[in-house]
Amino acid sequence: MIDIIIDKKKIGVRENQTVLAAAKENGIKIPHLCFHPALRPSGSCKLCGVEVISTGGKQVVMLSCILKVKENLEIKTDSELVRFNREKSFNNLLQMAPDSSRIRNLAKEFDVPVTPQPNGCINCRLCIRVCNEIVKASALKMVKNKNKSRIMPELGHCIGCGTCANLCPTDIIKVNDQDSVRTISIKGEIIGQLPLEQCEGCGNMYATASFLRHVQEITHPHPDTKEHHHLCPSCIKLMSNRTLTRTFHETLVSWKNT
Ligand code: SF4
Ligand code: FES
Repeated sequence: MIDIIIDKKKIGVRENQTVLAAAKENGIKIPHLCFHPALRPSGSCKLCGVEVISTGGKQVVMLSCILKVKENLEIKTDSELVRFNREKSFNNLLQMAPDSSRIRNLAKEFDVPVTPQPNGCINCRLCIRVCNEIVKASALKMVKNKNKSRIMPELGHCIGCGTCANLCPTDIIKVNDQDSVRTISIKGEIIGQLPLEQCEGCGNMYATASFLRHVQEITHPHPDTKEHHHLCPSCIKLMSNRTLTRTFHETLVSWKNT
């Protein structure tokens, strides 16, 4: 057995083992990912760096999965230099694997600040602009937090038209119609959840009641529009075919039977 000093504490360790193995055996935590006890170390992830005073008296960071213990070796596992290097290593790894929850959880465990998980938004603001300028519902806004911009819903403004989802170039806005309810979400975060209206002609769920109300409010009704009828675009097209001589109901019945 030999003595080494980890974080100012003298501990007895077995000769020839690595600093990481010695630390583990003594309940001292050092982050690591590419180390495996059954394999030779590769020094790839660089997370296990510890501070060592070199023979020239300089503070250096060395990989504890490779560094072997020796008598009176003194190391620090949480110095400023270690934390600086650790943060850099975590962020390098996350550049390659931004969705890795294992890396993110490990960073959290060691209190390492890392770049937030990308959500696929390129901040083009098409969704916000179309919602403001064309739909006029102003249901989305860009919120800045710690130098990161994020699309957020303006609570209660979404009318469930789905225009933002149609324009989003990265497809992160989703529209899901289920059980007569339309749900609009950005990467799992719900922007709006609204009941769907049934077409009086064919019976399909085709638009949200909020959207239909909104259209009525911001547009002037066309003289041919029967305002009391809620019809989907296909049925409206059928209705507006002025060459038809049959009644609307007969037309629909025949259309449904084709
Ligand atoms: S959610 Fe889509 S449309 Fe909106 S800013 Fe992000 S990428 Fe652009
Ligand atoms: S555990 Fe990956 S470099 Fe040491």
